[in-house]
Amino acid sequence: MCQIKVNGGRPLQGALTVQGSKNAALPILAASILHEGVSVLHNCPRISDVNTMIQILESLGCSVRWERDALIIDASGVSRCQIERECAAKMRSSVLLLGALLGRFGECKISYPGGCVIGKRPIDLHLRGLSALGVAFREESGDVYGKGRPRGGYFCLPFCSVGATENLLLAAVCAKGVTVLQGCAREPEIQALCSFLSAMGADIRRVSADGIAVFGQAPLHDTEYTIPTDRIVAGTYALAAAGTRGNVKLYGISRTDLAGQLDLLEQMGVQLSFKKDCMEVDARRGICALPLVRTCPYPGFPTDLQSQMMAVLCTALGVSRIQETVFENRFGTVQELIRMGADIQVQGDCAWITGTEMLQAARVCARDLRGGAALLIAGLEAVGETVVDGLSYIERGYEDVCRDFRLLGADVSKGKDNGG
Ligand code: EPZ
Repeated sequence: MCQIKVNGGRPLQGALTVQGSKNAALPILAASILHEGVSVLHNCPRISDVNTMIQILESLGCSVRWERDALIIDASGVSRCQIERECAAKMRSSVLLLGALLGRFGECKISYPGGCVIGKRPIDLHLRGLSALGVAFREESGDVYGKGRPRGGYFCLPFCSVGATENLLLAAVCAKGVTVLQGCAREPEIQALCSFLSAMGADIRRVSADGIAVFGQAPLHDTEYTIPTDRIVAGTYALAAAGTRGNVKLYGISRTDLAGQLDLLEQMGVQLSFKKDCMEVDARRGICALPLVRTCPYPGFPTDLQSQMMAVLCTALGVSRIQETVFENRFGTVQELIRMGADIQVQGDCAWITGTEMLQAARVCARDLRGGAALLIAGLEAVGETVVDGLSYIERGYEDVCRDFRLLGADVSKGKDNGG
């Protein structure tokens, strides 16, 4: 198993430009098959989830190639509307092809995307919303079959599911008539998807804070688009600076995208300053505990930074409380942090963290993407060598954590566990 070795115990100092957004790139890659032509995506992150999505697009008949920082997708040859089980099982975001395939072909087959360590991850809202647009579904031996060209309609999401919002937008772009969606997710990645679809020629209008209208069947054309910066990767590195009491500069980000994160960073004592597209994070004066960190849909504190925040609060003197309201099982990193000397009590959807002076270096194991990032932060805080197994989880969303943390002055290296 590939691993990362971290020699921690000193403040991060340095600067880097943050990579493109995984959670913007994946739905936009799915959206590229709506048009029988070419989409050029700049600043697309080179991460394993993007590689998996590329494999899925190629299995459908797309031709995809990298040209320097740009990913070029030619969807003119798409001829299949079924996604193979092994592809779908590799990545849950394959479910985003439901809306795109129904939009293009009026039919699709995908295998049920399983749950993962952070939760059951059902897709009931996706199916209910698409059914409201005239699609009939049947489920058979672990596969979902969708039939029917989407037609304009109305659907109010009972919960602002990011993926369900994205699937409904993709189907609505090719639906005959107008679709009005209420209760939509408001994450910046939704805005990025709408911007990409509009650049392609779709007629999409925001009608309220959580309402979007799509005037379907507008003619689509070739397009170029730049993927926005990854706000979760930016937040991860800002939290790593906080955990090590460091001072770093992160380029390529905007204050708006980091909504929900900035106030908590400042509340814990971190000094933030923005100049053009650069955010300076200065935690040299130390950090304090936070009485409550509650994860919420955007613009609240993102659930995708919860584990990383927990790793930082392990050494923030005082008692902090984290409440995870989005996923039912996202405290999976707690046991590994306790092995590093953290004092954490979990009850229901809350975790209480009593800050300790120092974490102890240890050999720990990542079991999910953001939990892995949290363990790297814990390793940067601890004196000595921490070994984090499960690098493959981290590489799903981070282009090159060794490159990035080295740019921030950390002593990190990739290793291979040869069972010694
Ligand atoms: C997206 O997942 C992100 N993934 C997740 O990031 C992120 O944590 C999540 O949104 C919340 O912000 C991508 O964008 C690829 P949801 P998604 O549908 O769309 C329940 C990361 O680390 N739900 O908003 O799957 C669901 O179980 C990943 O980058 C239903 O009950 O999230 C969960 O409890 C992890 N029925 C909650 O809603 C449904 O039909 C939020 O899910 C759909 C969702």
